[in-house]
Order: sequence, then structure tokens, then C-alpha cells
Amino acid sequence: MERTGGTRSTESGLPIEPVYGPGDLAGWDPAERLGEPGAYPYTRGVYPSMYTGRPWTMRQYAGFGTAAESNARYKQLIANGTMGLSVAFDLPTQMGHDSDAPLAHGEVGKVGVAIDSLEDMRVLFGGIPLDKVSTSMTINAPAALLLLLYQLVAEEQGVAADKLTGTIQNDVLKEYIARGTYIFPPKPSLRLIADIFQYCRAEIPRWNTISISGYHMAEAGASPAQEIAFTLADGIQYVRTAVAAGMDVDDFAPRLSFFFVARTTILEEVAKFRAARRIWAQVMREEFGARDPKSWMLRFHTQTAGVQLTAQQPEVNLVRVAVQGLGAVLGGTQSLHTNSFDEAIALPTDKSARLALRTQQVLAHETDVTATVDPFAGSYVVERMTDDLEAAARELMGKVEDLGGAVEAIEHGFQKSEIERSAYRIAQETDAGERVVVGVNRYRLDEEEPYEPLRVDPAIETRQAERLAKLRAWRCQGRVNNALLTMRKAAEGEDNVLYPMKEALAAGATIGEVCDTLREVWGTYRPNDVF
Ligand code: 3HC
Repeated sequence: MERTGGTRSTESGLPIEPVYGPGDLAGWDPAERLGEPGAYPYTRGVYPSMYTGRPWTMRQYAGFGTAAESNARYKQLIANGTMGLSVAFDLPTQMGHDSDAPLAHGEVGKVGVAIDSLEDMRVLFGGIPLDKVSTSMTINAPAALLLLLYQLVAEEQGVAADKLTGTIQNDVLKEYIARGTYIFPPKPSLRLIADIFQYCRAEIPRWNTISISGYHMAEAGASPAQEIAFTLADGIQYVRTAVAAGMDVDDFAPRLSFFFVARTTILEEVAKFRAARRIWAQVMREEFGARDPKSWMLRFHTQTAGVQLTAQQPEVNLVRVAVQGLGAVLGGTQSLHTNSFDEAIALPTDKSARLALRTQQVLAHETDVTATVDPFAGSYVVERMTDDLEAAARELMGKVEDLGGAVEAIEHGFQKSEIERSAYRIAQETDAGERVVVGVNRYRLDEEEPYEPLRVDPAIETRQAERLAKLRAWRCQGRVNNALLTMRKAAEGEDNVLYPMKEALAAGATIGEVCDTLREVWGTYRPNDVF
């Protein structure tokens, strides 16, 4: 990113020299620092062949309105060549409220699809064979419910749970830090996540149980060093939680996954992904004694930086997204979402969503970045940046550790205040014109050209409320009540809550009813904003 005057620094505040050479890697041992692709410490990528064997999964985040509308978008994406689904849920679903709950008013179907029950989930995946597609679901506090609804729909399709592949985001710690769709306090939230790890180990073994996310912290202003440090610190907290719940680390670690941003500053981003893989491999083998190489592999999804999209001259975002997508691929991502150019204005149209996917297809089929593994290996600048970022991230991880780990640090407001400081610096640099944003503080148009965005039909809220009324009239209320009572008892005790939860959902209990029952047992999280 260009700054006017003075020496330049990376987004992480590290020096970036106009010229690098052998001196910048003096004493640097590639065998020790890099390893081979697909081998410990995975600096060069998690698979020996990377994209020469199989391209990354082109996985476009999508969902809005009713289940039927989103189902149509998924089919359009599949028809256009997307390789995996990625479900966006509306805020009421993400917060565990039904579409007819007072708190849901005005948000139903807005930032994602409205899902209240098994009925809706059935429509969402109607005509999509769940043994043939991997599905990511961006759902956190109620992740267990959406996973079970997905399994119930698969059962109705005759697909066995051990054939299901996909991911639930299920990363509530970053919700406390940066995103906000939390429900329960940390302790019961971590218990529920451990229950999900155990349930998937037993019932849905190919499912990625969590997507430990740095993306949202980055969107809130975190630098690359902060993004990997706070994400990996959250990961360490989840591993400790599962081990404390009695699981062997190799029983769940292979199914942990991660999610990072791809900024326009691609040299630092490539270094960021490489440093993150190396740190995680060492943490898992050295700190947790994991023996299965799959436990050491940091497999991740990337989304191009939404916060770097501009509403001004939106077509310029096509260039930003292409550069950001290139950085994610050069950094070895396993799965990629490229933003639509109009997302700073409104929900993507069919055309802009297709163009976002085409951007990935150009990267995969028209460039040579899939012909060889980790092309930046040995680069003076990227290897120097990888080492510098690793050191900076480890220093920040040490500060989180000194506070007692991720949860304690969250309670101290540490991550939040660090990110806010970084966000403030970015805002100051942009306002001062030191940080160039094309079309915004340089190369502006006197008058922006009009753009007709996609709009969600406001009548969706009424339609969803009618669907809920029909469901509640049709279902066997006694069966629902008994199943919710059994689940309540499990939540009050030590038993895994997912088994009775699945029964309740199968009986027609709604997302809101299940979450309200758990709210009564576990309470809800109240952040203590530390200034
Ligand atoms: N050599 C050998 N095997 C290979 C290979 C290669 N080169 N490439 C892939 N494979 C194999 C893998 O081992 C895997 O097999 P397995 O399932 O038996 O292990 C299979 O092929 C699929 O490969 P991946 O697992 O690498 O790719 P997936 O796409 O299936 O999974 C993931 C990628 C990162 C592990 C997974 O967790 C994922 O898909 N995450 C997506 C998360 C996501 O989409 N999040 C959206 C967030 S949007 C959001 O938060 C909201 C907004 O606010 C931004």
C-alpha cells in the first residue's frame, strides 16, 4: 500500500526495504525454515502437490431472503462451476432467534438466508445431493443446530453422515472479539464446541468442526500479524478445551480449519499465510504433542478483503479482488471466496456473483500459478517477511498467553483494544491521504455513475412468520416439549447436548426454541467493555 514520503512499512508496521538481497537471509537454512511442500512445518503448503494436483475449492459465500431464493442462487453457482457451497445466514438465525421474534424485526433474510427449522433447511438444499458437495456454513453460536439440520436433511436424502463433507464456522471467540454474533458466555460456548468435536468424531468424521477465523478481526482493523496471532491464540484455546474435555488431540485436530483475509498488499499476505502454517505446525507438534501429521496442517479458507472494497467507482473493485485472490493462491489457500465488485453497495447480483467466480477461474486456468508449488519460496523479500511476521505474531501470542490465554485476554479487552488501535491508525492514514485508496482519496470522479443494486423483498418477514405458524400448528407439540426437556437436562449436566438437540430439531423444534432453552440454562454473554 502506497504511503507518501518516508520509508515504507508493511501493514503490520514492519520495515519494507526498496531492495532485498542475500544479506537479508544471512544464515537462513531453507531445509529448517521451509521444509518440503506437504511436510512439516508446512511453510510451503499443506499438500505435496498443492494446485498441481487439485485447484483450491472455489467456494462463494452466498445466501439471502428465503431458503427457496438462496437455493436458486446455489444452483446458479453450481451451474457456473463453483466447487463448494458456502451458506450465509441472516442475523436472526445467527443469533438463535426465530423470524417472528421481536428481535428479528427488519433483519429477516437481509444479510443471509432465514432458517428457522428443518422445513427451511430442506428447501435450502432441495435438489442438491449432499454426498456430492462440500458445504460451509457461516454459523457460530447456534452452529450445532445448523449442523444437525444439515445431517437431518442428508438422512432424508438417504446420505449417511460419514459421507458428509463441509465446515461450520463455530468460532465463538472471534465473535466476542470482532463480529458480535455470540449468544452464551465463554464457558458454556466452549463446552458446546467440545460437544461438537466429540459428536463429529463419532457421527460425521469427515466434517471440519470449526473454521478458526482471522477474517473478521482483519476486517475490524487487525494487521496481518495481529490477524494470525489472535486467530492462532483462539485455536490454542479450542485445542486446550477439547483436551480438557478428555479428547486425544489427534482425535479432533485433523478436522480443525482456519479462515483468513486476503488484502491487496499481496507480498505481506503471502508471507502471512506461510508464517501461520509454520507457527501452527510447531504449536501442535511441540506444545500439544500431536503425532498425526494431519494435526499439524493448517488448512484454511480465504476471503478477499471486504473492507477494501469501495462504493466509489465500484468496478475498480474487480481489480482489487483479482489481486487479493492472486495473493491467497500464491499463499496456498485451500478454499477461496472472491468478493463481488458491488458488495460495498448491496447484495451481489447474479451477474456480479458470476464475475467474482470467473475471477477465480481465470486465476486457476489462465495463469501459471497452479503449475508449481509455493512460487515465492526462496524469495529474499517474502522469506524475510515470513520470518519477521512469524516473530511479530509469536510476540503477540506471548502477550495473550501472559494474560492467561485467549478467553482471559478477551475478558481484559486485549485483542479488541489492539485491533481498535490498528484500525484508528489506518483511518488516520487514509484521512491524511498517506494511504491511497483509488477513487476515494485520489483519482476521484466529480460525479459517481448510478448503479442499480439487488434488493431483498421486505415481505419475506411476513412469509417466514406464516411458515412458522404452519409448522407449529402441524408438529406434535408433546414430542417437541419432551425433546427440549431432555436437551435441557443434558445442558444442565455433562451429557453431550447434540444428541437430544437432534431429536428436538427432527420433531420440528425451531432454532429460536432450542436456543431459548439453552439461554435459560446457560444465560447470555454480556461484554465488559474495557476502555
Ligand atoms: N493433494 C492431495 N489431496 C488434496 C489436494 C492435494 N493437492 N487438494 C485437496 N486434497 C484433498 C483434501 O485432503 C481433502 O480430502 P479430505 O476431505 O478427505 O481431507 C479434499 O481434497 C478437499 O480438499 P480441502 O479439504 O483442502 O478443501 P475443502 O474446500 O474441502 O476444505 C477447508 C477447505 C479450509 C479445510 C474447509 O474448512 C473449508 O472449506 N472452509 C470454508 C470456510 C468458509 O467458506 N467460510 C466462509 C466464511 S464467510 C464469513 O465468515 C462471513 C462474512 O462475514 C465474511
